[in-house]
Amino acid sequence: MSNRLTLPISRRAVLSGAAGAATLAVAPGLRAPAIAQNAPLKVGLMLPYTGTYAKLGKFIDDGFRLYVEQKGGKLGGREITFVQVDDESKPEAATDNMNRLVGREKADVVIGTVHSGVAMAMVKVARDTKTLLIIPNAGANDATGPACAPNVFRSSFSNWQPNFPMGKVMFDAGHKNVATITWKYAAGAEQMNAFKEGFTKAGGKVVEELTLPFPEVEFQALITRIAQLKPDAVHCFFAGGGAVKFVKDYAAAGLGKTIPLYGAGFLTDGTLEAQGEAATGIKTTLHYADNLDIPANLAFLDAFKKRTGNIGDIYAVQGYDAAALLDAGMTAVGGDDKQRDKMIAAMGAAKIDSPRGPLSFNKAHNPIQNIYLREVRNGRNELVSIAQKDVDDPARGCKLV
Ligand code: BEZ
Repeated sequence: MSNRLTLPISRRAVLSGAAGAATLAVAPGLRAPAIAQNAPLKVGLMLPYTGTYAKLGKFIDDGFRLYVEQKGGKLGGREITFVQVDDESKPEAATDNMNRLVGREKADVVIGTVHSGVAMAMVKVARDTKTLLIIPNAGANDATGPACAPNVFRSSFSNWQPNFPMGKVMFDAGHKNVATITWKYAAGAEQMNAFKEGFTKAGGKVVEELTLPFPEVEFQALITRIAQLKPDAVHCFFAGGGAVKFVKDYAAAGLGKTIPLYGAGFLTDGTLEAQGEAATGIKTTLHYADNLDIPANLAFLDAFKKRTGNIGDIYAVQGYDAAALLDAGMTAVGGDDKQRDKMIAAMGAAKIDSPRGPLSFNKAHNPIQNIYLREVRNGRNELVSIAQKDVDDPARGCKLV
């Protein structure tokens, strides 16, 4: 059953539809199981479908829907329907968008989003309304730090996680003086701070911290500044369309050969086709590598390719795992999401055989996971080593910990 209809949530694309499963048929005369009387569980997808993070949002959406489809359109025996909103990565519109999803649209669960600033507005509404929220990308440390809550989970990472281990990696590679460059918003600041924490702890010095407003891509003046500074290397955070442009501009300036470029793995994830040769040799740290040779990853990549025609990336994995996490909760309560405490306990205790490797959750509901060192070779983010195993975010300020 494909039941797609348009809903008036925002001027942007808003869609709703059943995931494909028929409703439960009950033989005449038999009392219907409690779950058959329930309406489908309505999942609100609040993601960027336009703008510099559009591809990230699309892959999260595809990964989530793939998992639900693999389960016959049901989680814990309960049919799933979707309503979606394009958040455009605009924090100023985030509270209204989230309020509409949980208010007018009555989403039972919200999955979102990519941008840290948008996610923090969503967390506030989720806390106020007690809506179950799973963040499938945004790394805002506070979401599983001071703003942590029983009903807020993350299937992705904290901004601290992929960056802290890079400090030791770069110092051990012989880089003592490093410049950083990023967008000036929560994700950029937190990721570069985490790198600095790891790098200074290892003995290195951050010589300059360069920024530009999100989502600007006029990098030239900052690249010229890097050429003047001549640091041993550069560490950065960019993602999506901005990452494509930065890597190309850096290579075009001829710096790639003299001042090695490193980054949090978002720099080269989901971007390699567009970056082409300019990305070859770039080393990054992330909770995924394209060629992780484990059954869960091989099966995921195969299924994702068959469903979408695309090669899965970290964003697709995070969407897929958000659905797996919701499934753990829904299965524990036989699809009855009103058994909230039991459902949340099962989600917190979930051990997921993720395409990224083993995935579990700390008390703040942030993933505990390996952080891999990868290098771009053969047009892929290939595994070099495990930079740090079972990395757990410090969850600073979370009262649940
Ligand atoms: C963030 O805003 O948290 C973010 C966006 C894209 C990739 C990684 C993090």
